[in-house]
Amino acid sequence: MAKDFLHGMRKDYGKDSLTKASVHPDPMVQFEEWFKAAMKTDGDEANVLTLSTLGEDQIPEGRIVLLKFYAEDGFTFYTNYTSNKAKQLEKHPYASMTFHWKSQERQVRVKGAITRVPAEISDEYFKERPMGSRIGAWASPQSQEIPNREFLDERVEEVQKKFENQNEIPRPDYWGGYLLTPVRIEFWQGRPSRLHDRIVYDLVDGQWETKRLAP
Ligand SMILES: Cc1cc2nc3c(=O)[nH]c(=O)nc-3n(C[C@H](O)[C@H](O)[C@H](O)COP(=O)(O)O)c2cc1C
Repeated sequence: MAKDFLHGMRKDYGKDSLTKASVHPDPMVQFEEWFKAAMKTDGDEANVLTLSTLGEDQIPEGRIVLLKFYAEDGFTFYTNYTSNKAKQLEKHPYASMTFHWKSQERQVRVKGAITRVPAEISDEYFKERPMGSRIGAWASPQSQEIPNREFLDERVEEVQKKFENQNEIPRPDYWGGYLLTPVRIEFWQGRPSRLHDRIVYDLVDGQWETKRLAP
């Protein structure tokens, strides 16, 4: 049944093009250019990305997280350090990130090594989060089995009580950021007839080298 409509679902692309000459020699500058363009069209969802990690069973696993910072040294997201993804990352500290900016007909893929961001950086970001999210970070044993929704609601109430006489809700030590330091970044621009443009940057002896890949 799905075949009837899935086979017919396709979109032709043609908004822009990409060449080795047109991209910036520094992939982070190129990323910033694309990210700013995506912010204009995708607004608060431009920072949505798929984070892929390697499971203990050697099966890759992906999930959506939000990009919260980027700079020359890489890309940062925040999560629970006891979550499934965090356990995977502590065991195998490498990951990839995939951005899809539909309205730009663009994809960016990044891969590299993962490290925890310094505690004081996580503290700073945690303070900026809305109250509900700060409480949620304390309340949710992310990725663990829980009996029902009420369990979560009760945990939230307990956390609210615990901190009701305090002005600040501190960051739980099991919640914080991870930095992905890239060794490869690929920029993909949709083109007509599936003949897309792909320019990839590889870090070779500390220098970024670009090449064009077949779509
Ligand atoms: C739009 C969106 C944004 C999300 N942002 C985050 C995030 O920044 N950090 C996070 O830990 N989980 C985020 N999640 C939830 C994750 O996709 C995932 O369910 C959760 O982190 C547990 O994953 P794990 O069991 O593989 O550790 C987001 C989900 C969606 C759909």
